[in-house]
Amino acid sequence: MKYVIGNWKSNQNITESLIWLDQLAALHPKFSTETTIILCLPFTDIASFNHKIADLGLPIISGSQNVSHLPPGKHTGEITANMLGELVSYCIVGHSERRREFGESSEMVAQKARLLLENSITPIVCLDTPYMDEQIKAMFNFDVDVSRCFFVYEPIDAIGTGKPIDPIDANHITSQIGFLTDNSAPVLYGGSISSDNAAAFTNQNRIDGVLVGTDSLEPTLFASIITSLS
Ligand code: 13P
Repeated sequence: MKYVIGNWKSNQNITESLIWLDQLAALHPKFSTETTIILCLPFTDIASFNHKIADLGLPIISGSQNVSHLPPGKHTGEITANMLGELVSYCIVGHSERRREFGESSEMVAQKARLLLENSITPIVCLDTPYMDEQIKAMFNFDVDVSRCFFVYEPIDAIGTGKPIDPIDANHITSQIGFLTDNSAPVLYGGSISSDNAAAFTNQNRIDGVLVGTDSLEPTLFASIITSLS
């Protein structure tokens, strides 16, 4: 199985997200039973998006982009894994933007992964080489079952630049991530993925899919990525 995961980041309100779905459906992308499509949305979009994918019969699974590292309780404003359990099957954790802008540590990311698994949500754990070993170690220290997670190698320099790294180099790092996680979980690549390069990454022997930022926002570009992998 290959995976295409979109990450809208902090873009699209409810209305825009529903228009995006209508536009995507109208493009009739070539969905394949060999490729799972997951779209990680802002919290506010998820409920109406879920209704609409069911109405349209689209084979898209929703995810979120973050979750609290705390359990339910007195934490004003936090969205817990328990709340998300009714809405999503996947959740991105540890994106480099959250580390940089919100000071998230490897321990917090491991706590999030653990709470997600307790609520039957698959954590999609983002990694880059400077903290890859530390993050995976933290997962084991917090008793996170890594075989129930997804991992994504996202080199910071390749994010939003239009300049992905060489797929062969990416495959070296994803192989290393696989080795560190007992080769028990899917490992993906993210960073400037487009329809022109997605297949070059998924054709590598240790890259199970792609995480797409910029090109997931435009239905035509996202549809082309889906079709390019079918
Ligand atoms: P881009 O596809 O815009 O490089 O973003 C990658 C990313 O950060 C996905 O999480």
